[in-house]
Amino acid sequence: MSPKLSSEVRLEGVGKRYGEVWAVREVSLTILPGEFFTLLGPSGCGKTTLLRMVAGFARPDAGRILLDGQPIDPVPPWKRDVGLVFQHYALWPHLTVHENVAFGLRERKLPRAEIADRVRAALSQVGLEGFDARRPSQLSGGQQQRVALARTLAVQPRLLLLDEPLSNLDAQLRAQMRLELARLQRDLAITTIYVTHDQAEALSLSNRVAVLQGGSVVQEGTPEDIYLRPHSRFVAEFVGAANLLPVQVVEVRETGVLVEAVAGTRLPVPTDPTRWRPGSRALLCLRPEALRLEEAALGRGTGFLATVAARVFEGDRHIYEVKVGEGTHLRVELPALGEGRIFRLGDRIRVEFSAEGAVLLPEP
Ligand SMILES: Nc1ncnc2c1ncn2[C@@H]1O[C@H](COP(=O)(O)OP(=O)(O)O)[C@@H](O)[C@H]1O
Ligand SMILES: [Mg+2]
Repeated sequence: MSPKLSSEVRLEGVGKRYGEVWAVREVSLTILPGEFFTLLGPSGCGKTTLLRMVAGFARPDAGRILLDGQPIDPVPPWKRDVGLVFQHYALWPHLTVHENVAFGLRERKLPRAEIADRVRAALSQVGLEGFDARRPSQLSGGQQQRVALARTLAVQPRLLLLDEPLSNLDAQLRAQMRLELARLQRDLAITTIYVTHDQAEALSLSNRVAVLQGGSVVQEGTPEDIYLRPHSRFVAEFVGAANLLPVQVVEVRETGVLVEAVAGTRLPVPTDPTRWRPGSRALLCLRPEALRLEEAALGRGTGFLATVAARVFEGDRHIYEVKVGEGTHLRVELPALGEGRIFRLGDRIRVEFSAEGAVLLPEP
C-alpha cells in the first residue's frame, strides 16, 4: 500500500473550553511529515480533547490547526483524510475481519477489486493474513486492535491519530505491539500523533514527545531530552522514577553550581549557571540508574554517605533503598550482571553519581 505524502500538522495557540474550564490552553506545536509525535500526560490533562480537535470532532475555542499549511478547523472530520484509532476499538461484531476492514472503503464507493487489494495489504501490514473470515469474537484483544488499525490504514489517511491504542492489552502484549507499531510507522512513514499516559510507550515509540499538564504543554523534545533533561519536577517524576533532593546553591561556577544537600554534603552539578544564584533553593534530580554504590570506606568521588535500608532483586537488576541523613531515602537501581558487589541491610555505603546524571530543577 503506498501511503500518500505524509502531512505536517501545526497547532497555533489552540485552546478548548468546557464551561468555565479550559481543558486545553495555548497549545502550539508543529508535527513534521512522517514524524511519530506523542502527547504524554496523566489522565484528564487534555490529550483526547487535543486529538479530537485534530480529527475534527471538536472545534477549538482559541487558536487554529493547520494541515499542510491549510487551516482545517472549518473542514468536517470525514473530509480531513485523517485516521483515528481509539482505546476501545469498536469493531462491528456481526461483520468478519475482512468486512470490518473494508467498511470505510465501501462507504467511499471504491471499486470492488481495489477494496480487496487494500484489505489484503492492510491485514498483511498488521500481521493478520488469513484472518479475513473470522469475527471479532474469535480474536484476542491484541488481534482486534490490529484489525482496528488495519481498518484505519486501509483508507490511506495522510495523518494517523492513535488514542491510547494499547491500554486495553496486557503488559506483555503491550510491549510486543509497541515494537510492531514502531516498525509499521517507520515502514509507512505516516505522520502519527500518539496519545498515552504511559511514559515507556512514549519514550520507546516517539521521535518527539510533548508532556502535558493541566491542558498545557510543559515540555517538548526528543525522548532523551524529556528523560535526561527534564525542566521541572512534574516532568522528572512523570517520565520515570526520580530521586528529588532538596538542595541549596552555595556557589555559582563557570559551568555549573555547587549545591549543599542533605547532611551538609556538597556536590558540584553541571547546569546553566546564569539560572542560579547563591542561596537559591532547588531540587537535585537523580535517576535511580544513574547512581552507584561503594563501600563507605572505599568511595572517594562525589556522593553521599548512606545506609542500605532495603534491597529487592528483580531478575535483571537490584533495587536498593538507601537512607541518607535523617529520613531522606534514595532509590538506586543496579544491573544484576554488573561486577559490583551486593550490599546487605544496614551496610554503610557511599552513593555516587556521575555529573551528567544529575539535573538541577527549580523548586516549584
Ligand atoms: N465533553 C466534555 N464536557 C466537559 N468536560 C470535558 C469534556 N471532555 C473532556 N472534558 C474535560 O476536559 C479535561 C480533559 O479531558 P481529556 O481530553 O479527555 O483528557 P485525557 O485524554 O488527557 O485524559 C478533563 O478535565 C475532562 O473532564
Ligand atoms: Mg483520553
